[in-house]
Amino acid sequence: MLYESFLKKIKDKSVIVGVIGLGYVGLPLLSAFSKNGIKTIGFDVDERKTISLKKGVSYIQDVKNSDIKKIKGLFKATNKIKDLNEADAILICVPTPLRKTKDPDISYIIKALETIQKLNYKGKLIVLESTTYPGTTEEILLPELENGGKYKVGKDFFLAFSPERVDPGNKNYNIENTTKVVGGVTKKCTDLTAKLYSLAIEKVYPVSSTRVAESVKLLENIYRSVNIGLINEMAQLCHRMGIDIWEIVNAAATKPYGFMPFYPGPGLGGHCIPLDPFYMSWKAKSYDFNTKFIELAGDVNGQMPYFVVELAYDILNKYKKAINGSNVLILGVAYKKNIDDLRESPAIDVMRILEEKGAKISYHDPYVASMKLGERVIKSKQLTPKLLKSTDIAILITDHTNIDYKKILDNKVPVLDTRNGLKEFKSKLISKL
Ligand SMILES: NC(=O)c1ccc[n+]([C@@H]2O[C@H](COP(=O)([O-])OP(=O)(O)OC[C@H]3O[C@@H](n4cnc5c(N)ncnc54)[C@H](O)[C@@H]3O)[C@@H](O)[C@H]2O)c1
Repeated sequence: MLYESFLKKIKDKSVIVGVIGLGYVGLPLLSAFSKNGIKTIGFDVDERKTISLKKGVSYIQDVKNSDIKKIKGLFKATNKIKDLNEADAILICVPTPLRKTKDPDISYIIKALETIQKLNYKGKLIVLESTTYPGTTEEILLPELENGGKYKVGKDFFLAFSPERVDPGNKNYNIENTTKVVGGVTKKCTDLTAKLYSLAIEKVYPVSSTRVAESVKLLENIYRSVNIGLINEMAQLCHRMGIDIWEIVNAAATKPYGFMPFYPGPGLGGHCIPLDPFYMSWKAKSYDFNTKFIELAGDVNGQMPYFVVELAYDILNKYKKAINGSNVLILGVAYKKNIDDLRESPAIDVMRILEEKGAKISYHDPYVASMKLGERVIKSKQLTPKLLKSTDIAILITDHTNIDYKKILDNKVPVLDTRNGLKEFKSKLISKL
């Protein structure tokens, strides 16, 4: 009965979607549903976010203020748990960081679960979207929600996992045109989830279980981490051999099959690639299994900031300068091109290592006005002639398009380019990774 009435609500588009956690994942997801005429309720514990949304102001680059305006009347931002009672489906989009020991920290998922337990969730569909290890949905959420046999999954409530694949800043792929993988605890759970997401997303791909769905996301990110690790190792070797790694990758990428280009860089960044693989390696341990590729890639990628600093040493050495006391200008501190997200950015590691060696650090990033370095808050500097004259070396960490690279080179600043971002410029001042 509950299943049929849920289906009916999906069919007549009267279903109400609740989202827990309105960050990089939750807000675009809510917006995708409401853009398609679905009523949504966004719940976040961070009041600054709900206040901002109530004023029509987005804090996520991929969701424009005009998008918020378009869905006005269809969505409600709230920090009151009881408001979620109105929702038929609840999608959990809270952070899943790692502890210092590289063990999963699912405390945010537990908090979200406690929120749902405060509601009358009979008849509701609950979907976990946060990236996590295989088994989380059925080992952690399911027993709590079944509440000692009070409710039966697939009959009294519905439960599924659906990994979020949003790629912030990607101009071609967004939530709506990226296939959504869904896996429910029962067939009815999968079916409802697939039909619900089809209201907002072009293609939905059902899989046989929550564990498969959880593992899909981890495989995707392990694949990236391992391949980036491989290329980063090749980059270090090629640097020693005096061969241009970028030229090699670009030439190899002309092969129409069997090769996919990955590029080297100063290290991994963002909330996904540096963290997610360790959710799998942690779980693997309980099966007495060592995930060697994950560990190795984590190791190689984690060493890249140190390699970047070594290269900076060599460049300064050419100019008979030492790192200690040098003025180092970091170009781009966000973890990737043309976005404002600083999470796990390799720039932070590079800056910290350089500072430990006595360098004087400043940075320029059109997307990041200020950032924390250790205990200090530092601000993005304008590229004034005064700043550039006093800069001993600039290190390009993130190749944002709207940085005035020409001005930097015109002011005779040696640049270490870790992204091949200056490929259009021919200058002896440029050294590549
Ligand atoms: N950022 C990405 O590009 C990306 C891509 C795919 C998957 N993911 C995964 O999606 C999940 C969310 O990531 P994100 O980048 O959106 O994180 P985020 O930090 O941008 O957003 C999470 C939001 O959840 C809120 N929150 C925390 N605890 C809460 C609670 N108990 N109740 C309500 N709200 C709460 C926070 O205030 C924050 O607004 C993570 O598991 C992440 O690995 C992220």
